[in-house]
Order: sequence, then C-alpha cells, then structure tokens
Amino acid sequence: MKYIEAGSYEELSRIAAGIIADQVKEKPDCVLGLATGSTPIGTYKELIKKYEAGELDFSKVKTVNLDEYIGLDGSSDQSYRYFMNHNLFDHVNIDKNNTNVPNGKAADPSKEGARYDELVASLGGTDIQLLGIGHDGHIGFNEPDEVFYAATHEVVLDDMTIDANARFFASRDEVPTKAITMGMWAIMQAKKIILVANGEGKKDIVDKFMHGPVTPKVPASILQCHRDVTVIYSKN
Ligand code: GLP
Repeated sequence: MKYIEAGSYEELSRIAAGIIADQVKEKPDCVLGLATGSTPIGTYKELIKKYEAGELDFSKVKTVNLDEYIGLDGSSDQSYRYFMNHNLFDHVNIDKNNTNVPNGKAADPSKEGARYDELVASLGGTDIQLLGIGHDGHIGFNEPDEVFYAATHEVVLDDMTIDANARFFASRDEVPTKAITMGMWAIMQAKKIILVANGEGKKDIVDKFMHGPVTPKVPASILQCHRDVTVIYSKN
C-alpha cells in the first residue's frame, strides 16, 4: 500500500481529487466508486473547482456509491443519495442516470444487493474506488464481524457508527440502525483504491488496518490484499 501523509485536510483533498481527475482525463467514460462521510467532501469540492475551471468533463462518467441507509430515499436530506447530489452531482455535468446509489427503500434488501453487484459487474467494475474509514475500521458500512461479506448486503450498524453519524441528524434516535453496503467483492474488484482519513482520531485505526493482521474484525485490513491502494492521511 502506498501511504501519503498530507500536511492538512485541504492538501489531502487536493491529492485525492488530483488522482480522480487524472483518471477522468485519461478515460472520460470511467467508472468511479464514490463514498460519503465528512472526509470526502473536500475531495468533491476540489473536483467541482476543476470542473468549473474547465479542466474536467463528467458527461460520460459513471458512478457507483458504496452504501445507503435502509429506510431513506433520495428525498431525505440524510440519505446518501441526497449527500451525493448536494456535494457533487448537482455541481458538475454528470448525467444523474449514470449515478448509482443502493436503494435504501428496496422491499427486499438481499435482492437489491444482488442487483447492485450485477450492476457493478455490468459496468466492468470500478476504475477507482474512493473510501473513507470509520473509527472501528469499517469501509462502506462493512462493520467489524466474524467474516468478510463478499456481496452487497444489509447490515445492522454498530453503536459506535450510530454515535459517529448522529452528528448529521437532529438526534441520535433519528439515525437509521440498518444500511445496505457494497461487500468486499465490489470494493476489491476496483482497479485502484484511494482511502482518505483525516484527524488525530483516525491515526490508530489507519496504523492498524495497514500494518495489523488481515481480519474481518478490522474490515479495512482486507485492503492489504489489493495491489493498488493509496492511503492519504492528514492529522488536521
Ligand atoms: C460512514 C460511511 C463510511 C465513511 C464513514 C466515515 O459510516 N458509511 O463510508 O467512511 O462514515 O466518515 P467520516 O469521513 O465522516 O469520518
């Protein structure tokens, strides 16, 4: 794994956006795997800046997002579909029909998971997958567990994750307790992976997933088995 320590969150965001921008320039119809959470917001801001400066064309780009809360659809401002529209898609010339987020309102989440994995496969997989990381080592919403789940699947969120994400909701009680997330197959088939982590509080988990044992108790540790991962960390 390649490790870059950025001097600031802004620098982290510029580096991540630079890698994604190079991919879009090299392959205008590339497939981007995108992430939510607060950390990638700066990366999306940098991509918007590059689009506004005329450097980037998203008209042929396709995207697949990692996860969505169960019970929320795009009309909810807490949904990850809303987050993506608000933080990126509404500000660039992407065709929304080419953007994909798991359906949190699907009647049968396991069927939705199968549909999503087929979609990723039919796109030929992602060229770049952007990831954040939870304090417990989760990627997407793959929480610490006894096993790694390959398929896109329903998960019950850990208390730690609900606590961490409560800051985006009016109260903790409003945080959905379940989500649907890409599993390790869809994440690991990416040709290139970028993981962004920001803040002193993420330092330990970054060390652990990069250098500790590969174990489902630290879901991000599976990235040690991928051939092209860049971790960009900034302390502040
Ligand atoms: C959520 C998302 C993850 C993200 C994590 C960390 O749980 N499902 O994909 O990595 O938050 O978020 P933050 O970047 O806000 O710390």
